[in-house]
Amino acid sequence: MRRSSYPDQEVSSINWQAFKLILPYLFEYKKRIAFAMSCLVFTKIASVYLPFILKDIVDTLDANTTGAESALIIVPLGLVAAYGLVRLSIVVFAEIRDTLFGRVTERAIRRIGLKVFRHLHSLDLDFHLNRQTGGLSRDIDRGTSGINFLMRFMVFNIVPTLLEIVMVVTILFVKYGIWYAVITLSSILTYIAYSVFATELRTRYVRAANIADSSSNTRAIDSLLNYETVKYFTNEEFEAQAYDQQLSTWEQAKIKNRLSLFALNGGQALIIAAAMTAMLALAASDVAADVMTLGDFVLINAFMMQLFMPLNFLGFVYREIKGSLANIENLFGLLAKAPKVQDVPDAAILNLAEQGNSTINEASIVFNNITFAYNAKRPIIRGISFNVNAGEKVAVVGQSGSGKSTLVKLLFRFYDVDSGNIKINGQDISQVSQQSLRSHIGIVPQDTVLFNDTLFNNVQYGCPTASEDEVLKAIDLAHLSEFITSLPDGLETVVGERGLKLSGGEKQRVAIARTILKNPQVLVFDEATSSLDSHSEQAILTAINEVTKSRTSLVIAHRLSTIIDSDNIIVMNHGEIVEQGNHQQLLALEGQYSKMWQLQQS
Ligand SMILES: Nc1ncnc2c1ncn2[C@@H]1O[C@H](COP(=O)(O)OP(=O)(O)OP(=O)(O)O)[C@@H](O)[C@H]1O
Ligand SMILES: [Mg+2]
Repeated sequence: MRRSSYPDQEVSSINWQAFKLILPYLFEYKKRIAFAMSCLVFTKIASVYLPFILKDIVDTLDANTTGAESALIIVPLGLVAAYGLVRLSIVVFAEIRDTLFGRVTERAIRRIGLKVFRHLHSLDLDFHLNRQTGGLSRDIDRGTSGINFLMRFMVFNIVPTLLEIVMVVTILFVKYGIWYAVITLSSILTYIAYSVFATELRTRYVRAANIADSSSNTRAIDSLLNYETVKYFTNEEFEAQAYDQQLSTWEQAKIKNRLSLFALNGGQALIIAAAMTAMLALAASDVAADVMTLGDFVLINAFMMQLFMPLNFLGFVYREIKGSLANIENLFGLLAKAPKVQDVPDAAILNLAEQGNSTINEASIVFNNITFAYNAKRPIIRGISFNVNAGEKVAVVGQSGSGKSTLVKLLFRFYDVDSGNIKINGQDISQVSQQSLRSHIGIVPQDTVLFNDTLFNNVQYGCPTASEDEVLKAIDLAHLSEFITSLPDGLETVVGERGLKLSGGEKQRVAIARTILKNPQVLVFDEATSSLDSHSEQAILTAINEVTKSRTSLVIAHRLSTIIDSDNIIVMNHGEIVEQGNHQQLLALEGQYSKMWQLQQS
């Protein structure tokens, strides 16, 4: 048995589209970028000029040693000082440039981070049920750091380095003749061609390492989330081994990754060394033949260093950019994923009479012959029609798995129905905005999950703008006060991840308090009291009756005693309605409901 591993991704070719997506963020700070660019141009000019100073120093020294002794001290000192100054300014301007640009990348990362976050929340429930949190968070991490790298180097390395190369080659050609330019240019071309080829080959190892990295993280997070289950079954060793298996896949992928890097770097170094040797041999023979001065020899040497350093860097940048693009791929893939449930264009707002403004509640719900399946092969809801008139309380009962909670998810539009429609106050819920639909419905779900925050904040979540008094009132209505006073930290108690430090019944009451605070016109209770003892249940039911009095409510329950006062009771079986009516009518039918009732009474 094994839980699913990270899904294999379709290995597509690298997506240069990423550049297009990043560009707008670069243009957000035009002035900053312009200033950083001018620093950059200055650095490049200075660094091309530097070897000339070096040449002059050497030539002066050379002349001095053969000529008069008098100028020996004075002239080189000035040049040496100039050399030092230019060197320093190169570094300083590079630092200024990076500092200026840092702001631009950080803003871009913030924007993209928020965009991804919003997008994740816009995706449908199905995506989230299938998601693997650990792997997902890794993809996002790698994606943002990839973006950072890409922006920095796109602006500051590729274009400027090419510029520098052109300058140096031109100088070599003009000052020393065609051969120097030919050697330089051909070695540069070979270098670039080799780098591109080898990097292309490497990309798949980078991808494989990424996939392995995400899946081991998925495994670790999933295992930790199931901490208790692991203990119940004393499966620590099993978990460790499964995790280690993932880690070893990652290790293998990394080894290949490293070996391919070695081949890449080695090849690049070979090309550079060959070119350097050829150039120096040529220059040395020219000096020997007295065509060149010693200063020229040093100048050429310095130029070569200067040229190959950025070139080497370009190789590194190209490699990293490819790597970054591979990293960003998953992130942009995520952004490209369209939610299955979407608002129609120009979706209307769900209109309900404002609670308080009007005593009339307009929120009638109509389920009109709906069918639905999570998976086409297994229908869950097979043609269900019923009404919940405004202000009424309707109960839905039936066997476990008959599709009751699914009905609620459809009402909340977590999924779209396959056929038929659901209307609230005459408006088809698929035609109104999800935001307006959900803002009118309050749900106490079957399994409440809480934020790892204080009790107070968890309740206030129902209406973030609610005052403290309103929150306390909701807590009181949900019969939570007594429990809270018994806590050493009271309302400031932190509930633990997913609320696991509370009992099932306490969590349910927090969920009820939240919903009371939200104060919607439609209320849904999905087994809202299932975790409560009969005493608390009675108290909560009174509270629920209080809040549902003027509202439309849908109540799902297993314990029939909690819903006998409903205006209508729907009995479901295998996604169909088998009986409906009020408690007395259903008992008189002597069908499924009356059987269930008798069973629960005895
Ligand atoms: N996201 C999903 N993907 C696939 N199948 C699902 C999904 N959610 C629920 N199901 C299936 O749909 C059926 C109906 O589930 P639903 O939660 O609506 O049942 P229920 O009537 O609320 O049951 P219970 O009384 O146990 O809460 C179940 O068989 C369940 O396995
Ligand atoms: Mg259910």
